[in-house]
Amino acid sequence: FNEQEQHLIDLNKQAAEIFNHLLLNTDLSGQALHYLEKDRHLDRQTMIDFQLGYLPSDWSLHQFFDEKKIPIEEQLTSGLISQYDDGSFHDVFANRVMFPLKDSYGNVVGFSGRTLDSTNSAKYINSKETAVFKKSRLLYHFDQAKQAAKLSQRFLLLEGYLDVIAAHKAGVDYGIASMGTSLTKEQLQLISRNSPKLTIAYDGDSAGQNATWRAISETRQFPHLQVDIVTIPAGKDPDEYLQEKGPEALKQIFEQDSSSINDFALEYLKHNRNLSNTADLSAYTTDLLTFLSEHPDPIANDLTLKKLSDQ
Ligand code: CTP
Ligand code: MN
Ligand code: MN
Ligand code: MN
Ligand code: MN
Repeated sequence: FNEQEQHLIDLNKQAAEIFNHLLLNTDLSGQALHYLEKDRHLDRQTMIDFQLGYLPSDWSLHQFFDEKKIPIEEQLTSGLISQYDDGSFHDVFANRVMFPLKDSYGNVVGFSGRTLDSTNSAKYINSKETAVFKKSRLLYHFDQAKQAAKLSQRFLLLEGYLDVIAAHKAGVDYGIASMGTSLTKEQLQLISRNSPKLTIAYDGDSAGQNATWRAISETRQFPHLQVDIVTIPAGKDPDEYLQEKGPEALKQIFEQDSSSINDFALEYLKHNRNLSNTADLSAYTTDLLTFLSEHPDPIANDLTLKKLSDQ
């Protein structure tokens, strides 16, 4: 890192520590603690493990930085502070639960903030991109998951931060999440350099299944990465599944209920098609054969062709 980048990282680190302190050790965080403990069923140890935080609306990060003599240019560059048209400064993340975003080495490079009331504002907002924060190159919890993946020989790719935390509560610490965007080539590079296998367990709703289809397509450029798929039942996300069925059940589906990308394709391509209709069946077959040609694997594809003809 150059000097300016190091300053950005130092500032983000300070912010992460103060947000975590405000959440856990002050009486300004009642609403946020109630949300995390009662609504999301997180205990304090989990909040510590993931360095979760809170920025109360009646507390000013800008004022705190001023008191610490942080130059205003640096405050603005960090993306934590912003300027109104009238010239005054304000905190970007006021009244949000803060998720520190760390690079592969554990440096805090940015934040995602979740609203406590999803009624009138974006559910999550992220830090703007900076010299040290590029969304397309970052995977949430990668710094920790990298260690766990050495043992498990796999990463588990999830949609959301709370899904990564749910996996952790279930004893699965190789969970990672992309940043609310489609999986990028840079993220796949990070994954494939650090593990031979990837399990994708996006949300069970149709958005998650569509995103799974796109992610599988992206993995084509990484033929040595062994990819399989977990579908969370009943349209739920992993965190919702944990709330309903408990940690053992979640661990079980992550570790034992995956299917091959070919089996995923066999099911996925059926959506909105009636296979007893000749035109639909023909389109289905064409799409499946295209998929198989794009994912050459003689043994697996042979089996899939058998399943196709047996259907
Ligand atoms: N996301 C985002 N901005 C939004 C909505 C979602 O950046 N307005 C990103 C976040 O990274 C989020 C992920 O997309 O974690 C998955 O979206 P979704 O399934 O809608 O959110 P959840 O992770 O389930 O959020 P929560 O459980 O907190 O409601
Ligand atoms: Mn962890
Ligand atoms: Mn989702
Ligand atoms: Mn979700
Ligand atoms: Mn969720």
